[in-house]
Amino acid sequence: MYRGFINGRCVAIKVVHEKPGTPNESGNSTMLAELNHVSRLQIGCDNIVRLLGLSHVQSSGAVCLVYDFANLGSFLQVPADIGSKVAVGLVIDFAKGIQHMHSCSVVHGDIKPDNLLVHRDDSNPPHLKGMVADFGFARVLPKGQDTVVGGGGTRGYIPPEAFKNSRLHGSRARDVYAFGITLGTMFMGLSPEQLLRKIQTLNSNDASLAARRRAVLLEMEQHIARQFDIDAVQNKSCLQILLQVVRQSCHATPTWRSSAGRMVLEMQRCYDHIHM
Ligand SMILES: Nc1ncnc2c1ncn2[C@@H]1O[C@H](COP(=O)(O)OP(=O)(O)O)[C@@H](O)[C@H]1O
Ligand SMILES: [Mg+2]
Repeated sequence: MYRGFINGRCVAIKVVHEKPGTPNESGNSTMLAELNHVSRLQIGCDNIVRLLGLSHVQSSGAVCLVYDFANLGSFLQVPADIGSKVAVGLVIDFAKGIQHMHSCSVVHGDIKPDNLLVHRDDSNPPHLKGMVADFGFARVLPKGQDTVVGGGGTRGYIPPEAFKNSRLHGSRARDVYAFGITLGTMFMGLSPEQLLRKIQTLNSNDASLAARRRAVLLEMEQHIARQFDIDAVQNKSCLQILLQVVRQSCHATPTWRSSAGRMVLEMQRCYDHIHM
C-alpha cells in the first residue's frame, strides 16, 4: 500500500501484484475481482472504503486501485485513549459496513482488525469513521444460496464450518464469526485462541460447568471494562450487551449466530447507555 496525493487529496494506492491475465477460481484476475466487489458496494453506505479509481503504471504494467486515505490506519493502530463511546461508535460503523455488504449479497472472507480502517474527519464537529476495506477475498453469493466456494482468511478468524471438502467457503455467518472474534480480541485484549476457549466455556450447556461459566463471564466483563477504562459496576448492562454480541457472533453453530444488522442494533443500545 502506498500513499499519494491527487489534486491535494490524500489517497491510498494498492498495487495488485499479479501476472496480467492470471485468473482466480471465479475466472477473474485478483484486481478485477476486488474492483468488481468494492465498486458494487460504493452506493448507499459510508462505511465501505471509498474507491476513487484505477491507475496503470506503464513501465511495469502494474495496475493499482486508488482509495481515499484513512488517516488513522487500521483498527489495530487506533490509539487506546479514544474513549469507550468513540470505540463503540467505530464498531457500529464496521457492523453497518458489513450489514450493507451482506445486503448486496457480497461476503468479505477476511474480516479482521487489519481490514477495518479508521478515518478522523476534522470537520465540525470532529469525528471518527470506521470503514470496511480489502475486498481481495470477497465473493458474491450465488442467487438463493448462502455459501460460496473460495475466499481466503486468517488463522483464528475462520469458523470450523468454512472448511468443506478441504476447500474454503464464504458466507455471511462466516463474516459474522470473524467480526465477533475481531471485537472480542479488541475489546478484551485477548488472542483469538484465548477468546475462543472462553466463548466455548460460555456457550457450552454442560451443567457441571455452571460455576466456571459465571466466573468466565465476570472475568470477561472485567477485561472489557479495563480495556475501555470504564467503571464495571456503572456500565454493567453495556458490558453485558457487548459480551452477548461477541458470544452470539462466535457461536460454533452458524445458524445460531447473530446477523450484522442485529449487531448494529444491539451495539447502538450499548452506545446510548455507556457512562465514561
Ligand atoms: N484506504 C486506506 N487508507 C489507509 N490505509 C490503508 C487503506 N487501505 C489499506 N490500508 C492499510 O494497508 C494495509 C493493507 O491493505 P489491504 O487492502 O488490507 O491489502 P492486503 O491485501 O495487502 O491485506 C491495511 O491493513 C491498512 O493498514
Ligand atoms: Mg488486508
